Amino acid sequence: MRGRSVIVTGVPGVGKTTVVNGALKLLESEGITYKTLNFGTYMFEVAEKEGIARDRDEMRRLDKDVQKKLQKLAAQAMSKEKGNVLIDTHASIKTPKGYLAGLPEWVLRELMPDTIVLVETNEDQILLRRLTDDTRTRDLEGSYSIGEHQQFNRSIAAAYSMMTGCTIRYITNADHLLEKAMEDMAAVLR
Ligand code: AP5
Repeated sequence: MRGRSVIVTGVPGVGKTTVVNGALKLLESEGITYKTLNFGTYMFEVAEKEGIARDRDEMRRLDKDVQKKLQKLAAQAMSKEKGNVLIDTHASIKTPKGYLAGLPEWVLRELMPDTIVLVETNEDQILLRRLTDDTRTRDLEGSYSIGEHQQFNRSIAAAYSMMTGCTIRYITNADHLLEKAMEDMAAVLR
């Protein structure tokens, strides 16, 4: 039986994976568990096998039709998971040719989320986190552009809610307030 389906989104480097991991730890003692599925990992497994991307950051620069094919395969694979699932992904992807919906209709139909969470914070903080995270090849962009991306994500999330009837929740992951963000995320998952 499928349990709850929660989708967690946020622009690259906002710290969504950090917040999710902390929230799941808080919930452990309450016996609440979720299987975490990383959308990018599912896409990258296929992309790597087919030799079309060497690392996960390269995927957003692939032709949009290739990205859409990878999206579809990832959503189909994830929809087979049972129990409570938490999907770590993006409301939209910034590609060289414009914003690409992270959760288009054919993906939402597979995942049917109960809630979509948008993890957000001040754009200057995100810029600094990207500059200091040397494990990834982040795109170089200024804080204005990061702010625009966050605004676009709010707009497109409203459309996702219209399509599925899911709720939308914003969680702020500000500098020095990581614990608060983890607690807010745990409350959504309870
Ligand atoms: P993915 O790997 O999910 O990309 P990402 O968002 O770029 O990377 P992360 O998930 O690592 O960032 P994060 O925001 O979780 O930050 P983190 O916790 O690491 O996806 C890869 C690719 O897959 C995408 O680029 C795309 O091509 C593709 N993809 C995925 N979904 C797709 C979809 N639906 N459709 C099409 N393509 C899709 O934290 C970052 C840093 O911040 C860390 O150093 C951390 O320590 C720090 N930090 C976190 N919180 C705080 C805080 N409160 N204060 C200070 N520092 C903090």
